[in-house]
Amino acid sequence: MHVLITGGTGFIGSALSAELLAADHEVTVLTRQLIEPRGALRYVQNLEEIDDRARIDAVINLAGASLAGRRWSPAYKREILDSRLETTTAVLQLLRRLDSTPGTLLNASAIGYYGHHGDERLTEDGAVTPGFAQDLCRQWESLAQQASAMGVRVCLLRLGVVLDAGDGAFVQMAQPFRMGIANWMGDGRQWLSWVHRKDVIAAILFLLQQVGLTGPFNLTAPQPITSRDFCAAMKRHTRTLITAPVPGFAMRLLVGEMANELLLQGQRVIPAALEQAGFEFSYPDIDSALDDILGT
Ligand SMILES: NC(=O)c1ccc[n+]([C@@H]2O[C@H](COP(=O)([O-])OP(=O)(O)OC[C@H]3O[C@@H](n4cnc5c(N)ncnc54)[C@H](OP(=O)(O)O)[C@@H]3O)[C@@H](O)[C@H]2O)c1
Repeated sequence: MHVLITGGTGFIGSALSAELLAADHEVTVLTRQLIEPRGALRYVQNLEEIDDRARIDAVINLAGASLAGRRWSPAYKREILDSRLETTTAVLQLLRRLDSTPGTLLNASAIGYYGHHGDERLTEDGAVTPGFAQDLCRQWESLAQQASAMGVRVCLLRLGVVLDAGDGAFVQMAQPFRMGIANWMGDGRQWLSWVHRKDVIAAILFLLQQVGLTGPFNLTAPQPITSRDFCAAMKRHTRTLITAPVPGFAMRLLVGEMANELLLQGQRVIPAALEQAGFEFSYPDIDSALDDILGT
């Protein structure tokens, strides 16, 4: 299989490329960087570099400016949105002009799609409340869905907070615990719908193979937890000396609007569609994930 990955240099994309290459697939990565090809892995800086006659079986669209990267100024919010919509538009243009249309588009999205719903359990049919992350995900998903009109199978990956060692959200989340300080943010009752990166990669490979599957898929572990539960789990896996929650107002001062949208509120998301399709999570609960990530 020849797979094109936009944002394939990132936290999810790099692990995904490695897994695809290990399974003898060919991978092309769209990146803004200039990187030399390595065996079956090649890089393009613009999708126009891909010849009309290229045979690509699937596109995995992950590229976009990080939501947790910086304070959400109006200019940065524009970049978060534009980086995704422009890349997806370029993907659609590629799909349209290739002599042989790829069969599958797996498009990243996020559980921010739903907004905040307190303790309600959200499956893929969950309602949407207003907000920046919701608008972003809705626009991104509906643009990607345009590929269906070209006969492409479209799956929307509503990703939760992806955890693994080395990079991604876990590095920041684990930092106070490494210094012996256990904490949660705000009242700690907000839901954290997390997922181990290895399960994300496994679910993507599953969706690539199951050609009958389309539509939105919550990519979160079956057992979401609250921020306080995460703190308790980390305490079981690390040595902490004190527990010092960070008040909500301090988070708002430190990171602004992003604090309310991503850190002080959350959503309790269930991977109903993936489970119904028969996907089995290797890390369904936080203790099994932390055992693996922290090597405990
Ligand atoms: N990780 C999570 O917890 C999580 C949760 C929910 C949703 N998601 C979504 O899933 C996707 C992949 O996540 P990830 O954690 O792998 O992200 P990541 O590590 O930030 O990687 C995203 C990639 O997008 C490219 N990129 C960054 N800024 C860009 C810009 N302004 N214009 C065009 N391309 C840009 C970068 O590639 P180059 O520098 O090589 O160009 C980068 O490697 C993202 O869209 C993210 O929003 C992730």
